[in-house]
Amino acid sequence: MVKSPLSDPVGGAHGWLRSALLLGLLGLVPACRAADPFDQNEQLATPRRGAVVAEHPLAAQVGVTILNMGGNAADAAVATALALAVVYPQAGNLGGGGFALWVPHEGQPWSLDFRETTPAGYGTELYLDAKGAVVGDRSLNTPLGVGVPGSPQGLFELYKTHGSKSLRFAALCAPAIALAHDGFPVDSWLARDLRKASAKGRLMADPAARGLFYPGGEPLSEGEILVQPALARTLERYARGGQAAFYSGPTANAVVRTLIEADKRLGHIVGDRHMTTQDLADYRVQVRKPLVGWFRGHQVISMGPPSSGGLALLQVLAILDGFPLDDDRNKVRRDQALGLPAAAEACGLSARSTHWLVEAMRRAFADRAQHLGDPDFVDVPLNKLLAPEWIADRRISIGERSNPGVQAWRAAAPRESFQTTHLSVLDKHGNAVSMTTTLNTSFGSGILVADAGFLLNNELDDFSLAPGVPNTYGLIGAEANRLLPGKRPLSSMTPTVIREGGGRVSLVIGSPGGPRIITAVMQVVLRVLVYEQSLEDAITAPRLHQQWKPEWTRLEGGWPASVLETLESQHGQELRVEPKSKFGSVQAIQVLNNREPAAVSDPRRGGRAMVQP
Ligand code: DON
Repeated sequence: MVKSPLSDPVGGAHGWLRSALLLGLLGLVPACRAADPFDQNEQLATPRRGAVVAEHPLAAQVGVTILNMGGNAADAAVATALALAVVYPQAGNLGGGGFALWVPHEGQPWSLDFRETTPAGYGTELYLDAKGAVVGDRSLNTPLGVGVPGSPQGLFELYKTHGSKSLRFAALCAPAIALAHDGFPVDSWLARDLRKASAKGRLMADPAARGLFYPGGEPLSEGEILVQPALARTLERYARGGQAAFYSGPTANAVVRTLIEADKRLGHIVGDRHMTTQDLADYRVQVRKPLVGWFRGHQVISMGPPSSGGLALLQVLAILDGFPLDDDRNKVRRDQALGLPAAAEACGLSARSTHWLVEAMRRAFADRAQHLGDPDFVDVPLNKLLAPEWIADRRISIGERSNPGVQAWRAAAPRESFQTTHLSVLDKHGNAVSMTTTLNTSFGSGILVADAGFLLNNELDDFSLAPGVPNTYGLIGAEANRLLPGKRPLSSMTPTVIREGGGRVSLVIGSPGGPRIITAVMQVVLRVLVYEQSLEDAITAPRLHQQWKPEWTRLEGGWPASVLETLESQHGQELRVEPKSKFGSVQAIQVLNNREPAAVSDPRRGGRAMVQP
């Protein structure tokens, strides 16, 4: 094991400052947008250095420290995710699940599904009232929302399969243990999220969560030190025993006990059909074939079912590939050459291209609602949905005017305060990990495992509980995404890696945001690959979101008025601008032509991009 202060996380000096210093604060340089993008002479080998982007500065520091210690992208991703489970309880987790892509510098990409599963005793009838209507919050705020967690097995599997082995698993857990044991200062984001009514209601209803996050009945405020001894002990057991130490023994028992207690408080809606230690013992991650497509000479690698993200991304890129998107960029260039202000196209997309983008999204989400689900339970017709004929049909069906009546492919015939988190890692060998993980909504179900210190997810709300009834993200679904024992709910998480010409990694990207994950990733990819915007500009640019149902398109503030006007008048698009909303939080790394990584954490939230010195 590499000798380092990190290998002695709980002994010695005190306090978060010590942790922060141990984590190598001083050795880091901020993210840079490097040099000359037109320098084509350089051989595009491995990047000059690695980088980590995550939604909390302390977690990003942990990742870079692991890279500096000789760990690879998989090691750094595992350590970063575990640190997020401590410092970002809104979404970082042990009690949730997610997806990870490992894309090596050379060789085959690999994807891991550590999505939560439905306990064996659950069935849709538990979510319905006597009249067969879905009872609003059962899949969100009660044990009926909680799927069997996948993260502890997922992270261990990533370490085992692709970790460098120059660091022991315990070394990857050590920074998270230190942060849980010593504590860390609550940042403005956590303080703000704890004050939000939706989170507060859920967390205050749970005695353990209330004690941790609302001591004396008041939410933790910025700067207060949050110490999590129970979580530190859980992580220590995990560090010693790997995934088995979570899925059996004291931690597994604590999960089941907590859920039974929570059900008692709610008047026994689950009763003896609760999650059991057998459900935990039976949990298995799945290695899945990544979805791979091509867009303008770039190999786009993303997550397949039970996530819908990769499919929607590839469908939209393929549809758009047949439209003259380059006109926009050429016009901007021409205007610039003539010294004219690059008018409405300042943020890249003309009204015409934006209309095509919206219509392509609408079609992809129609297919998602009808056909996507857990591939272990339903046959997802991926080949049909990506077939050139179907993509061409879709493209031809896009006219000058919006078409909300578009339907899904046929064989032969919003609420606020969501939280997921994404991390992107690149090592200096050119390997990449793109990982998205979640509890579903902010702080998940709000149920904190009493003696183990972590929150449980409410991922089962991602199922389609009844035909046509939208989930918390307004998504509807069909039979393919019906809740069944052992099944995984459909996801929108879109961890993605792009390889230039199928060769070196050129972009590592992902985002939180429910269905807006898919459209956020899509828009940044388009801006970088087609509009040749810098990663920073592409991520900062205003976003829009279209998910088939509802029919209207939602937009962040900041779109040029002329674009909005043309979309409405000329293309018949129904638009709803939400100046206060933020769509997603993209965490991405681009490898520039001079081999320098440009790492960007979305300014919409409080993450951090860090590049190795
Ligand atoms: O898997 C999904 O699609 C959702 N459970 C993700 C939730 C999410 O992204 C919340 N976000 N910020």
